[in-house]
Amino acid sequence: MKITTHTLRKLKGQRPIVAVTAYDAITARYASEAGVDLILIGDSVGNTLLGFETTVPVTLDMICHHTAAVARAKPNALVAADVPFAEAHYDFERVLGACQRLMQTAGAEAVKIEGGVELAPQIRRLTDAGVPVCAHIGLKPQQVLTLGRYKKFGQSPAEAESILNDALALEQAGAFAIVLELSDAGLARRLTDRVKIPIIGIGAGPDCDGQILVCTDLLGLTPGYVPSFARAFAAAGEEYRRGFQAYVEAVRNRTFPSETPESAPKSAASSQATSV
Ligand code: KIV
Repeated sequence: MKITTHTLRKLKGQRPIVAVTAYDAITARYASEAGVDLILIGDSVGNTLLGFETTVPVTLDMICHHTAAVARAKPNALVAADVPFAEAHYDFERVLGACQRLMQTAGAEAVKIEGGVELAPQIRRLTDAGVPVCAHIGLKPQQVLTLGRYKKFGQSPAEAESILNDALALEQAGAFAIVLELSDAGLARRLTDRVKIPIIGIGAGPDCDGQILVCTDLLGLTPGYVPSFARAFAAAGEEYRRGFQAYVEAVRNRTFPSETPESAPKSAASSQATSV
């Protein structure tokens, strides 16, 4: 069944929401078939797949490109796209234009915006215009060059109060959910109890309404770089290595290809060579 923002809101207090990032059609299909509720085309594509150090260089064009790939998989999961660095801080017409491209051209069903109380007026106008917004507070990775480092948020009473105010303002502005990144677990619990929209945590402890992880972390594609709060549920990096090594060996020792077909074509989409 297709997951909508309405479904996610109704899941609060019922069962944990499962969210993950994906940047391409194949990953989106696997994630959705596994039962993931929300697929985020995060600007983490920059530092996970595109070789950038941070999410800052990721542009709207890049997010549109990856969102369109995910949308083509037609996942049951809700498809949300990140509004990239700085974009949400321009005037309303530009932000609306960015969201319009993400939704009309690329196929996103919602957007995610990093920002708290300072962006609540923009988010109010976006939701009034029909753009479903998931907000993102706590650590906002787009701020990393200002912060100087990635750090945990909400440990001092003043910081905790400010994040609580962010959450209340964003709920009031019509956000359908909030991603809370790298937050004190006690604060995450308070927020989850206090606001009526789902709080989806990443590095924010076990008591949120749901969890989100970056797909390359949870699949074990970046061994050695998994953040302390994430878990590698698979060892896909090792499988890649094994597959490539076996291929190299088979070509070099001429055991591939064989005279007979290697496998029966499964579908037109399974390989470019299926029609040969
Ligand atoms: O870009 C991203 O992947 C994110 C998640 C960490 C929530 O914002």
